[in-house]
Amino acid sequence: MKSQDVRKQFLDFFQSKGHLVVPSAPIVLKDDPTLMFNNSGMAQFKEFFLGNAIPKSNRITDTQKCLRVSGKHNDLEDVGFDTYHHTMFEMLGNWSFGDYFKEEALPWAWEFLTEVLKLDKDRLYVSVFEGNEVENVPFDQEAFDIWKQFVPEDRIILGNKKDNFWEMGDQGPCGPCSEIHIDLRTDEERAAVTGRSLVNADHPQVVEIWNNVFMEFNRKADGSLEKLPSKHVDTGMGFERLCMAMQNVTSNYDTDVFTPLIEKVEQITGLKYTSNEVKDISEEQNKTNIAIRVIVDHVRAVAFAIADGQLPSNTGAGYVIRRILRRAIRYGFTFLNIKEAFIYQLVEVLANQMGEFFPEIKSQQNLVTNVIREEEASFLRTLDQGLQLLENVIAETKGNEVSGAKAFELYDTFGFPKDLTALILRERGLELDEAGFDEAMLAQKTRSRAASEMTTDDWTILVEGNTETFVGYDQVESEARITRYRKIDSKKDGVLYQIVLSSTPFYPEGGGQVGDKGSLVSANDSIDILDTKKENNLILHFSKKLPENVNAVFVAQVNTKLRADSSKNHSATHLMHQALRSILGTHVEQKGSLVNPNYLRFDFSHFSKVTDEELQQVESFVNARIQEQLSLIERRDIPFVQAVEEGAMALFGEKYGDYVRAIKFGDSMELCGGIHVKNTAEIWHFKITSEGAVAAGIRRIEAITGDAVKGYFASHENMLNEIKGALKNPQDSLKAVVSLQEENVKLKKQLEALLKEKAKNMKGDLAKEIQEINGIQFLAKQVDLNPEGAKDLAYELGNLGTNMFLVLATAEEGKPMLSCYISKELVAEKSLNAGQVVRELGKYIQGGGGGQPFFATAGGKNEAGIQQALEKAIEFVK
Ligand code: ALA
Repeated sequence: MKSQDVRKQFLDFFQSKGHLVVPSAPIVLKDDPTLMFNNSGMAQFKEFFLGNAIPKSNRITDTQKCLRVSGKHNDLEDVGFDTYHHTMFEMLGNWSFGDYFKEEALPWAWEFLTEVLKLDKDRLYVSVFEGNEVENVPFDQEAFDIWKQFVPEDRIILGNKKDNFWEMGDQGPCGPCSEIHIDLRTDEERAAVTGRSLVNADHPQVVEIWNNVFMEFNRKADGSLEKLPSKHVDTGMGFERLCMAMQNVTSNYDTDVFTPLIEKVEQITGLKYTSNEVKDISEEQNKTNIAIRVIVDHVRAVAFAIADGQLPSNTGAGYVIRRILRRAIRYGFTFLNIKEAFIYQLVEVLANQMGEFFPEIKSQQNLVTNVIREEEASFLRTLDQGLQLLENVIAETKGNEVSGAKAFELYDTFGFPKDLTALILRERGLELDEAGFDEAMLAQKTRSRAASEMTTDDWTILVEGNTETFVGYDQVESEARITRYRKIDSKKDGVLYQIVLSSTPFYPEGGGQVGDKGSLVSANDSIDILDTKKENNLILHFSKKLPENVNAVFVAQVNTKLRADSSKNHSATHLMHQALRSILGTHVEQKGSLVNPNYLRFDFSHFSKVTDEELQQVESFVNARIQEQLSLIERRDIPFVQAVEEGAMALFGEKYGDYVRAIKFGDSMELCGGIHVKNTAEIWHFKITSEGAVAAGIRRIEAITGDAVKGYFASHENMLNEIKGALKNPQDSLKAVVSLQEENVKLKKQLEALLKEKAKNMKGDLAKEIQEINGIQFLAKQVDLNPEGAKDLAYELGNLGTNMFLVLATAEEGKPMLSCYISKELVAEKSLNAGQVVRELGKYIQGGGGGQPFFATAGGKNEAGIQQALEKAIEFVK
């Protein structure tokens, strides 16, 4: 059965059991500070289990793109070495939100596997929670009794808390679970060793395929469990593993989920991948196989993350994506011996293969390809640079062990990986001090963990139920009570309180716009609200302290000046988005946005620099819309489908509900939850302040509006006045600057001529100072010239005779520099090498350099070391 059909059978089956089929949520999470990526099917439904939101159906089914590369569930380092773990995988799931429970879930799972897919019953094992006294959760008798109707007792395994009690994270909904495992070994193997003994024992062909979690508890901050208000079912089946079972193979990589990608790698590299059925392969072939698995696995994770709007970057989720891609590049570089970008070529295969079910990968194919290609090229450059630096480290190494701290420095600052360092060193007969490396790594991790440590208390609930209303689109003030609060304590921000209100005008950070600030005022108290964010459907107001009486009646007041400035920038962002699409083309898509009171920042797809002329057109376009005084047309709660039909812009990787809010100014229409001006005239004026690249195919524009533009013009006027003053107030400032520049060029030319002259004069004097040592004409001396002049002089002196060995030092503007000239016959006969000479002598001036065997230069930082360097030069000729 093709993988496409396996997926469809699952969704059809649960649809026939009354489940609503929903699309996968984006792989990257936007408003959950506790999780970077969707790591399981249930992550997008967390708020339903917690009771903070109500699902549109209490039976849901889907396939979810998951990534397990950070946090509690992290498989990254295993991927490639085994045949059944992945960075990105699909999780098939069915959910009951307070509806059916074990009675239905387990028989349905059995029915689907054995009657619909017709998997061999004899190959299936199930597990049940054995109970745990400390947690005060009993043995799951109910699940056990249900399974007994279908499965002989010797195929039911009792599991402990580690295997059969599922938790999403350190806190939150959790409960006992029942897993289904499959034994895919041959009949002989099964006869020899029972599958029962291999369940949960890391055997590659006896694997878990489906987990049925019975969510009954909430894990609190103090570690205790409390009962949830209702009982839920959360199931997750590994799609790729199920395909393995359905396609009679013993490795996920031998299914049609991966084979088209593997064939493409084979075609590019000319190497062969051997399927899991081929035994007794060489060490070399095994390495090739691992590298190919790493690459075809990782490209999926990276491509889908980029398609969902997460570009590789140096922080947060973007950094995780960059690291995954770099791991793939490195395996290609080292084990497939490909030294140029090639992984991007797999995107086309992936888009053809998955594009039907996940249209985002098809429509973003161009961008994804370009971003991956550029990332590959730039990391390969880094590897190149790292190799050179590693040479320096090797040159400094005494003995045969290379310092772990030095190797860590290469890793930390250049991303030069440890295993590659070790490999290169081994090839050179050297060893890496791995313990030292690990120690340096640990020290750094400890530092950064300490910096990000945070504790979160349980909520103190003042008003039961969740009736919070957001009134911020119409009001900047509202009467409110505190319904719940909790304390968080982090190294970074210290103690903060998160407060939830019965009614709030505060806009929580979202859609690029920062959260509102303001205050919470009661009859005799007032506290500052420093920020507002949304988490699990709750609007959290952040403050440094709690009001004295948390039960008082408050007025929640938004800081209106800051909000007005943000809304100008937000509305201008929409107008600019429209301008860019109309001036540059409709390939322009939003890839990131920040809107705060001071400025706006907008990232978008476009493949070349935006020219000055185009930028001016964009400014004029937006300013024309401002002059037209377009009124805001806001439509709340219109059906998503209708809004898109009417031409509203929706973004990839954004999770939209069935009903959305559309913001319209003239012809600009976007789906947006943000705060906007009532009329474009409020923006006053729009000014672009910078344009540049953020990644391959992604440009960034920063711009300002309103008061910020006034400040901008005023400061430019000031600067111009100061420049005029410095130029002694000429009639025409521009002319004065141009004539200064021309004069400067003329003076430079004269100076160069004078220095040449001076070098010539020096030549005669210096020639007399050359001494003969061991048949070599030797001179080492500091000269009062610039480096260029010293080079000319060295060549002139060198041409005076044969067997010359010259070292000239300069210190122009305090910057020490050494030049070494060695006659060709010395290079050939005595194996002297100018590059090596300047590297050795360069140490005294704290620098390095290189060049050719007969001429090389080194620059450094320590002028005081010149004398010593010159004194040491003689040792080479001695
Ligand atoms: N939430 C369960 C899991 O991820 C189904 O394994």
